[in-house]
Amino acid sequence: MRHLIDILDLSLSEIDDLIRTAEDMIDHPAAYAHRCDGQILASLFYESSTRTRLSFESAMCALGGKVIGFSDAETSSASKGESLQDTIRVVSGYADIIAMRHPKDGAALAAAMTAEVPVINAGDGSHNHPTQTLTDLLTMHREKGRLSGMTIGLCGDLRYGRTVHSLVEALRRYPNMRFILISPEDLRMPEYVLEMLETNGQSFTETSDLDEALPDLDILYMTRIQRERFSDPMEYEQLKDSYILTRDRLRRAKADMAVLHPLPRVNEIATDVDDDPRAAYFRQTRNGKFIRMALILKLLSERDGRFQLIPEDAEPLVFGKCPNARCITGSESTVKPYLRREKGHDFARCLFCDAKLRT
Ligand code: NCD
Repeated sequence: MRHLIDILDLSLSEIDDLIRTAEDMIDHPAAYAHRCDGQILASLFYESSTRTRLSFESAMCALGGKVIGFSDAETSSASKGESLQDTIRVVSGYADIIAMRHPKDGAALAAAMTAEVPVINAGDGSHNHPTQTLTDLLTMHREKGRLSGMTIGLCGDLRYGRTVHSLVEALRRYPNMRFILISPEDLRMPEYVLEMLETNGQSFTETSDLDEALPDLDILYMTRIQRERFSDPMEYEQLKDSYILTRDRLRRAKADMAVLHPLPRVNEIATDVDDDPRAAYFRQTRNGKFIRMALILKLLSERDGRFQLIPEDAEPLVFGKCPNARCITGSESTVKPYLRREKGHDFARCLFCDAKLRT
């Protein structure tokens, strides 16, 4: 079976194919209207969502398939204490493919371990969000006509925002990309993402100054400060207004820069920006449906392929536990922790959430 847990599960040529298919779907939707007749998508959302859940459901309907699922963990048997892995095993008997979102880091990987059908990660805690990344790549391709040679500013909550983690993972594989990471000191990109950029020899700078970065950017990717991930509400209050993009501020930017945002926005983009031709975020939401159609079609057609969930170099974590309080291994007793050693270093990483483990 093929799953999509991390954006690196897809090769660059597979992503190119998905983008091409999605663009064909935008132009010729009728040609795809019966491609999934008789198939069922289970949409399991343990955490709130508007765009991701509805675009998945709309995508399956547009392919002729049907949808079952829940949009709130309280209405599922999780509220009775059922483990995630049991739920997934059961749902595998009712659906041909699963799209799931969960508040814990690594939950999609844990789910895939007991799934008998393909699992798509629709967001796991503050960790990853690969289908948002596919949406973002399609949008960049449509807005800029290329996926190379760009300066990309990622702005806002780079610490807890899962979309930017997957996006950087993806974009660093394209040629001549430069990243400007714009965030308050307390919301910097996690160290595992920075290390990934460093090992790749990637050009990136970190700053807290959006105005200074703006004139250089081809893409500005704004993000929301992720209120629900803060353990201290006071910290959120102090950081919530860190960046507000206004029409006036946009005057410093290139005339052909594109502004992306995974949405929902709170106040980080003023509504007076919406009418600016550079504001691409509502076009981006529409693209999300088509790239998810392409992805569903791909995973269903490759159901019999082989996919290695636990890499050969991973080892069970016998002593100790993952230090990340938000990791799925800390909350689900049926999920066995694994680690992956980092070559040339004296530490390992949790296979589920990438947190650093001293060994
Ligand atoms: C994002 C998410 O859920 O991570 N939204 C989305 O999927 N479009 C971003 C966010 O919630 O801020």
